[in-house]
Formats: sequence, C-alpha cells, structure tokens
Amino acid sequence: MAISNFKKRIAVFLSGRGSNLKNLYKFSKTKPSKFTIHLVISNKKDAKGVLFSKSKKIKSYSIDKTMSEFEQKSLSLINRENIEVICLAGFMRILSKTFVQKCKIPIVNIHPSLLPKYKGLNTHARAIENKDVYAGCTVHHVTSKLDAGTIILQKKVKILKKDTVATLSKKVLKVEHQIYPIALNKIC
Ligand code: GRF
Repeated sequence: MAISNFKKRIAVFLSGRGSNLKNLYKFSKTKPSKFTIHLVISNKKDAKGVLFSKSKKIKSYSIDKTMSEFEQKSLSLINRENIEVICLAGFMRILSKTFVQKCKIPIVNIHPSLLPKYKGLNTHARAIENKDVYAGCTVHHVTSKLDAGTIILQKKVKILKKDTVATLSKKVLKVEHQIYPIALNKIC
C-alpha cells in the first residue's frame, strides 16, 4: 500500500486570500508531510483560496450562509469525507461551542500574534502601538473560547522601529508559512 494512504485527511476552512492553504498544499506534496489536503470549505463565495483549491482539484465548497447553516453543512462534509483534522487558515468566523463539541477531531488555527497576547483582530497594530519588541504567530488547538486553546507552536519576529502594520504582517506571514506545516505534522 502506498505511504500516502496513511496520511491524515485534512480539511481547510478559510475566508479569503488562502496563502496558508497554498503553503500547506505545497508542503503536503513533499515526502515529510503526514497529511493531505482533502477538502476546502469557505464561508465566502469569492474567496481566492477556493479558486486555488479548485485549480488543484481539491474538493471545495463555498457555504456563504448563516453560521449555523455553515456549521451544519460543514459537519456533514467532514463526516462524509472522513476528515481527521480541521485547519483554520484565515477563517474569519468564530466556530460555535456546539460545533467544536460535535466535531470529534482536532481543530487547529494559525493566529498572527504571540498568544496569549492579542487574541482577536488587529494584532500587528496593537503590538506596534504597545511598542512590543517582538510580534509573531501561533498555531493552537481550537476550543470554544477565542484563540485560547493549547499552543502547538509559536515563532517570534522582531519588530523594528521602521515597521508598519503592512511590513510587520508581511514578515509574520512568512513565519506563519514556516510553522503551520511543522505544527500540523506534529499533531498528525
Ligand atoms: C493570516 O495572517 C492568519 O494568521 C490569519 O489570517 C491571515 C490569513 O492569511 N488568521 P491567508 O488567507 O492564509 O493568506
């Protein structure tokens, strides 16, 4: 039996650009990867990430509906496709407690801050405003509390005096792309 048959079946949830999806996909095609991307679900009809996944022939769904309809449909897809891990990658909605409880598989997220600092939005602006020395990103388990689950991996990025939100987010995104595949491999 081919080794790839033992790889974990991942679903990626996203809302936009999808650079983390692209990066995870690229890694999934390499030998050390313990996962394959089997399903992509977006809550936005026009998410660029979905165009990418369709171009790679990954099963892709846009469920641009209420959160409860989104969760119901996603859960049945997850079960039908025997998904083993859900990765949130730029997924801009909060999953309900019911969804997290009903989902019997790990859900992980990448967040652009050094959690537990700066949960939620505008993380880079807050780090610059507070004159922090470091920013960074965190891969963590998802629970029913926002950005509060166990940390799997975290990496720092130095904030320079000249950094703006734009330059800092670019630097942090680069590091996100480094750590997300490693973190995912760790739990697969
Ligand atoms: C990333 O910065 C991620 O940490 C945050 O949303 C952004 C998504 O970027 N949750 P992309 O869609 O993966 O390019």
